[in-house]
Amino acid sequence: MKYLITGGAGYIGSHTVLELLNAGHECVVVDSLINSFDESLKRVETLTGKQVEFHQVDLLDKPALEAVFAKHTFDAVVHFAALKAVGESVAKPLTYYHNNITGTLVLCEVMKAAGCKNIVFSSSATVYGDPATVPITEDFPTGATNPYGRTKLFMEDILVDLHTADADWNVVLLRYFNPVGAHASGQIGEHPQGIPNNLTPYITQTAIGLREKLSVFGGDWPTPDGTGVRDYIHVVDLALGHLAALKKLTERPGVKIYNLGTGKGFSVLDMIKAFEKAIGKPVAYQIVDRRVGDVASVYATTDLAREELGWVATRGIDEMCEDAWRWQSMNPKGFEN
Ligand code: UFG
Repeated sequence: MKYLITGGAGYIGSHTVLELLNAGHECVVVDSLINSFDESLKRVETLTGKQVEFHQVDLLDKPALEAVFAKHTFDAVVHFAALKAVGESVAKPLTYYHNNITGTLVLCEVMKAAGCKNIVFSSSATVYGDPATVPITEDFPTGATNPYGRTKLFMEDILVDLHTADADWNVVLLRYFNPVGAHASGQIGEHPQGIPNNLTPYITQTAIGLREKLSVFGGDWPTPDGTGVRDYIHVVDLALGHLAALKKLTERPGVKIYNLGTGKGFSVLDMIKAFEKAIGKPVAYQIVDRRVGDVASVYATTDLAREELGWVATRGIDEMCEDAWRWQSMNPKGFEN
């Protein structure tokens, strides 16, 4: 099969391209590189021994995207390209709405004109907002708490509305929980811009000496050890979830929504302990006030993905931390080495 991967040079995108190539598929990547590096794709080519056609295209540039579709007939699109920093989205809502939502509208228009109506969309557990209970099933009420999350919800709605208007559209919405880790080779991984917002890059950057110490946001949450609980999922498991979703699209399923998580919740202190084991030395941290907008506990039920996609996450937190540390220690400056 031939797939277009938007945002394919990014963290989850590059791991997905690698697994698609290994499975014998052809990948064309469009990526603006505003928050990613084409070096990731060069490394994917080395790791797989296969070629990726790359175009530095922003989805807001419709003629450039049309030119890519004029050259190829795609079986489906995997749509990762989006801005993703929660805090930045609060400060720059217009940038987030314009980039994420208009980018998706342009993509859908170009897909429609080209007769490609199959899409896997990179959504997020953030669309569940502050869930009333855990674990979270796909039918939980949605409601985002920041502009980033609202763009994910709007993009989901746009794709569902497309299917309502034209049943030829097949849409799989994948709601990711907390992606962590890296490819086992240590050659590709997460390269956050500036000071990391997310827990695991902050831990690995602290361990390598780029940051002084980790701030643990809140020790008084209603969780077993008082720190926030999340469903951390290895990025390679997540990538493989996309292959399962693309296979599902061949059944012409209409609209499907799946949580991609492990179904297990781990606290911030659990993650620190797992990293200390992987790294072989203590991680400096202090417990500080809660971060505004955080919630106590978020983890998935994974039954639907297992039953309908035949997909389960198999990698545990030790492997996540070992792989994240291998990537960080082999590439202290990420792709900028
Ligand atoms: N945390 C810290 N210190 C840090 C960073 C995070 O203690 O320096 C804690 C948070 O309070 C939370 C946990 O670690 O309890 C995970 O925080 P992350 O920022 O890594 O992840 P979030 O769960 O807040 O958010 C992530 C993504 C979002 C996505 C969401 C889906 O950043 O894009 O998961 O649930 F929408």
